[in-house]
Amino acid sequence: MQFDALSIRNFRCMESAELLPAESVNCIIGDNASGKTSVLEAIYILGRGQSFRHSPLHQAIRRGDDSFTVRARISDGASRHRRVGAHHDKRQFSLKLDDIDNVSRFELVSAAPLQLIDPNVHRLLEQGPQHRRQFLDWGVFHVEPLFFPAWRRYRRALKQRNHALRHRYAKHDVLAWDGELVKQGELVDACRRRYLDYLTDLLPKSTHRVIGNGQLQLSYTNGWKGTEGLGVALASTLDRDLRAGFTQQGPHRADLHVAISSTKARDWVSRGQQKILTTSLLLCQAQILHLRRGIKPVLLIDDLAAELGESFRQTVAEEIIRIGGQCFLTFLDESLVPDALTSAQMFHVEHGRVRRAL
Ligand SMILES: Nc1ncnc2c1ncn2[C@@H]1O[C@H](COP(=O)(O)OP(=O)(O)OP(=O)(O)O)[C@@H](O)[C@H]1O
Ligand SMILES: [Mg+2]
Repeated sequence: MQFDALSIRNFRCMESAELLPAESVNCIIGDNASGKTSVLEAIYILGRGQSFRHSPLHQAIRRGDDSFTVRARISDGASRHRRVGAHHDKRQFSLKLDDIDNVSRFELVSAAPLQLIDPNVHRLLEQGPQHRRQFLDWGVFHVEPLFFPAWRRYRRALKQRNHALRHRYAKHDVLAWDGELVKQGELVDACRRRYLDYLTDLLPKSTHRVIGNGQLQLSYTNGWKGTEGLGVALASTLDRDLRAGFTQQGPHRADLHVAISSTKARDWVSRGQQKILTTSLLLCQAQILHLRRGIKPVLLIDDLAAELGESFRQTVAEEIIRIGGQCFLTFLDESLVPDALTSAQMFHVEHGRVRRAL
């Protein structure tokens, strides 16, 4: 999967930019505040239907303008093309896929699998479990077709059960949701476990250069206690759920633990190593998607050089080349581009203007 052509209008500091990216590696180079991350953000919106920045999306409309538009042509490498677009005016945000207006994020995400590795990627190890669940579920979503429908139905049932608990409905109104919760929840769990096996198989090879001989261990907790299934676990904490007013167990509480030789990775490795370890995790997901579904996702890597010395930058660059597929990386300066990427397509960004290097 790749972006063949990209058009950006009135987005952040960019009035108008047209990019014809290479099908492999693209480096976007420019000073602070020139617009590098904004280029990645525009691509991300086309693949995910939302931004990775936390501010409301209407703030991305260029100051003084009424709307932004981002469009691209995507190709699956077998000369099948699709057109994707995102538009935000004063009233609303809408997504377009080919000639269909107002498509859902789900349709977009399925059409253009895309992964972001930003300068804070190491926080995956430090932050709360929801970030690691999101990490895991991105991979599960793309690789396990049964996952998303089950997850959606699980979330719906969980919402209803929590509503019943919060409003102190009778016990049987709470229990009415348990059948669906257990059926879908166990399916979600099975998909995650299968995916985790793929990750566990592939990961040690790509992290060896970062952590040396320390043994990398990934462990997953499914979000409920005991080994007798979600139904038994839910029954055992029903009274506590009734008191608390919400469902305390289930796959919505799952977590992924990363340890090196039995010590939590975040305590074991330096900040730079944490970054390269989490980057390896994300690159590994890209490989799994290729191995299992034949799809190479687009990688967006913002400020690779932040906190990474030359040899680690080189390691990541070699991994990117090995994986193949399309990748967009940003750098403050051309001198920071690792040797392995010097034949990449270069773009220079200056005050929101993007220029393709010859
Ligand atoms: N809605 C907007 N209208 C105009 N300019 C904006 C808008 N939103 C953000 N900007 C500006 O766009 C500029 C580019 O931001 P961006 O984050 O893309 O820079 P960058 O090149 O990634 O910088 P850095 O190297 O510091 O990460 C910033 O100066 C920011 O203030
Ligand atoms: Mg930036």
